[in-house]
Formats: sequence, C-alpha cells, structure tokens
Amino acid sequence: MRNVTPDNITEVFTGYFGPDTDPRFAEIMGALARHLHAFTKEVGLTHDEWRAGLKAMEWAGQITTPERNEFVLMSDVLGLSSLVDMINSHPGATSSSVLGPFHVSDAPPMALGADLRADFPGEVVLVQGHVRDLNGKPIPHAQLDIWQTAPNGLYSSQDPDQDIMSFHGLMTTDEDGYYAFTTVRPVEYTVPTDGPVGQILDAAGRHPWRPSHLHFIIKAPGFRDLVTEVFPADDPYLDQDTVFGVREDLVMHYAPQPAGSFPEGFALSGKVDDAWSRVDFDFKLVAR
Ligand SMILES: [Fe+2]
Repeated sequence: MRNVTPDNITEVFTGYFGPDTDPRFAEIMGALARHLHAFTKEVGLTHDEWRAGLKAMEWAGQITTPERNEFVLMSDVLGLSSLVDMINSHPGATSSSVLGPFHVSDAPPMALGADLRADFPGEVVLVQGHVRDLNGKPIPHAQLDIWQTAPNGLYSSQDPDQDIMSFHGLMTTDEDGYYAFTTVRPVEYTVPTDGPVGQILDAAGRHPWRPSHLHFIIKAPGFRDLVTEVFPADDPYLDQDTVFGVREDLVMHYAPQPAGSFPEGFALSGKVDDAWSRVDFDFKLVAR
C-alpha cells in the first residue's frame, strides 16, 4: 500500500500479516495497533511527546535487572497487571493479585505453626486458615509460599541487613487443609521512584505507596496456582494502592487478643506474654 493515510493505517497494518500468522498473535497485534493508532489520533501526539515515551521505555530497559524490573512496575502502576489478574480470576475462587518484584525462589520450608519474625520486635500476629476448593472442601498438602516486608518496610532483597530468606517461607497444609504461622505486621511501602515510573507518578500527582500486605503463592495438585496478597482493613492506603492490587475478598482483619491467651501448638507457644493479634483467612482454589 503506497497511499497510507491516518484513516487506513490500521487496516494496512493488519493487511501486512502473512498467511501463516498465528490467529491469536494476529488478534492481539491487530487490536494493539488499532488502539495505539486511535490513541495517537485522539490525543494528537506530537513528535516531542512520542520521543518522551520512547525515552521512558529506553530508560526502563537500562535500569531493569533480574532483581528490579521497571517494565513490570510500569505495567503495575498503569493498572495493566491488575487488569490481567482480574480478567483471568475465576468467580468464587480467591482473587489473584500482583506478584510484585520481591519474591525469592526456593524459600526454606516451615513447619505448621512456625515463626517468620526471626529477631524482629513487634506484636506477634498469628495468621491461620484453610485452603479449600470451590465447594469448601479442605485441600490437604497445599503449598503456601509466604513473604512480606520486615517492620522496617524493606523486603529482604532490598535490605543488606536481612538474610535473603528473611520473612520468606514455604508451608504445607495438614490433612484438614489448615495452615498457621506467626509473624509481625508487614508495613506499607513505596514502589521504587528513581526511574521513569517515578517520573510518571510524579507528573500525574500520584503517590508511590502500597498498603501493607502478606504475599502468598498457593499451589496444590489438580488446582490452578494462586498468586495473591492479603491486606488489613485498617491500612491507610487500602483505597489508594498505587498498583491497584486490592480486592474486596483480599481484605483481612487483625483481631486483638489479650495477654496470656496465646495458644499451644506453635513455635512461640509459652513465649508470648503480651497481647497479640490473630488473622483468620481462608483461600479458595479453582480446579484446573
Ligand atoms: Fe509486596
């Protein structure tokens, strides 16, 4: 086509696909081009603005490493990651939520009732619940990969003073699908702001904060993996998570418990003299 115009460029683009193009690839690339072309016309994109966008992508590439992926963060703050999560969630199952960049592979196994706090001070929080199927039937031997920030607001990979496995652990549910561990409260934190994503947030008048949360990846044979987070109801950023990760069904509560009432059967049993908090949270997995 030699007579390309603003009106036919999308059609010309899709017309260039070869006859053996994978249909799903053609569908995705065709729709991407259609929306990009419409967006460009809608805002009347100038050369300077187009170049600024390319520069941001170039900068994102330059600072992306295995430990820090600026493209994932860009997807997160644009709402793309959460939208993908939401349209792929199954009704009735626990919602998925962003993985984030701080997961560490091969976390150490933890026994049921183990403690994640190491030497960090703070009120003891007992987190417990069941992993179930969509009919409420417990799933035995489901694996929970658990991680969170330390009370200083840092994940282990951000903090030279923490062991890389600090606040990371793998737990397996018992015959009743039950899991339980103790920890201290994770805290709210900011996403990294020293790259193009920080500039985008700044230009949009947006803050970089996320509400505090516990991360989970839950796996069980015959069920879809669940990547999710749970958030306390009283967090000041619950209604303004900068990566749009909060869902109604992922909100939990710290239930205050009086001093002297800590139960038996935990690594910390007999060692908790002060008041503590309990979180009860069940996960529902969908069969493959
Ligand atoms: Fe996180």
